[in-house]
Amino acid sequence: MTDEQPTNDHDASGDNPSPELTTWGVGPWQGDWPEGVGEPGSPFDAELLANGDTRNVLDHYRYWSMEAIVADLDSQRHKYHVAIENWQHDLNIGSIVRTANAFLAAEVHIIGNRRWNRRGAMVTDRYQHVRHHPTVEDFVEWTRTCGLGAGGGALPIIGIDNVPGCQKIEEFDLPEACVLLFGQEGPGLSQQALDASDAILEITQFGSTRSINASAAAAITMHCWIEQHVFKRR
Ligand SMILES: C[S@@+](CC[C@H](N)C(=O)[O-])C[C@H]1O[C@@H](n2cnc3c(N)ncnc32)[C@H](O)[C@@H]1O
Repeated sequence: MTDEQPTNDHDASGDNPSPELTTWGVGPWQGDWPEGVGEPGSPFDAELLANGDTRNVLDHYRYWSMEAIVADLDSQRHKYHVAIENWQHDLNIGSIVRTANAFLAAEVHIIGNRRWNRRGAMVTDRYQHVRHHPTVEDFVEWTRTCGLGAGGGALPIIGIDNVPGCQKIEEFDLPEACVLLFGQEGPGLSQQALDASDAILEITQFGSTRSINASAAAAITMHCWIEQHVFKRR
């Protein structure tokens, strides 16, 4: 695919959202509306209360405006970021965005083509900050200057790929503030991305396949971070 093909892609800024997917939901609010609807500080959305809420959100967020949900998530986001190289419009990106939303990553970074296939995101990209970097160089520059690493320093880049010389993720202490960098199906991480990584980690495999699916690898890796920093299992 080229960068010009529209299909289900949109740009990483989220400027071009497609209609919300309907999954399951609730009908119009029954009884008296919650106090303060329409006033500053109320999370409730009058249109959702009147018409029902069929969005793919936790019950806790039913009838909340999108802005109120994002603000609530922003107040509790974890300190790890997720990045993926996007040179060939990898179909895994949507699924990685969805997992990043589920595990409350600080931000998802798309390196390479701005457009990405959002189908697997199931609209979670509306609640997840997604930032685009045209080149690995731009991405590295951002990690060095963002001030989001330990003590306000650079954000360490943790490359995730099973390449010669890598370490085992199961034996590695992931930094609390870091960016977990994934490669795309086929080539895996580019040499430039490998060179830019402060550490390169593999998820130990036991079968015959060379690798697992990139979005599966991203889900496992994010959960490793959760195990270490939320459940303190190391
Ligand atoms: C198809 S794999 C890449 C290939 C791999 N280096 C090879 O030898 O074929 C695509 C991406 O999924 C992730 N991945 C897949 N399996 C992995 C594993 N066992 N450990 C770490 N990352 C993995 C990595 O981010 C990788 O860049």
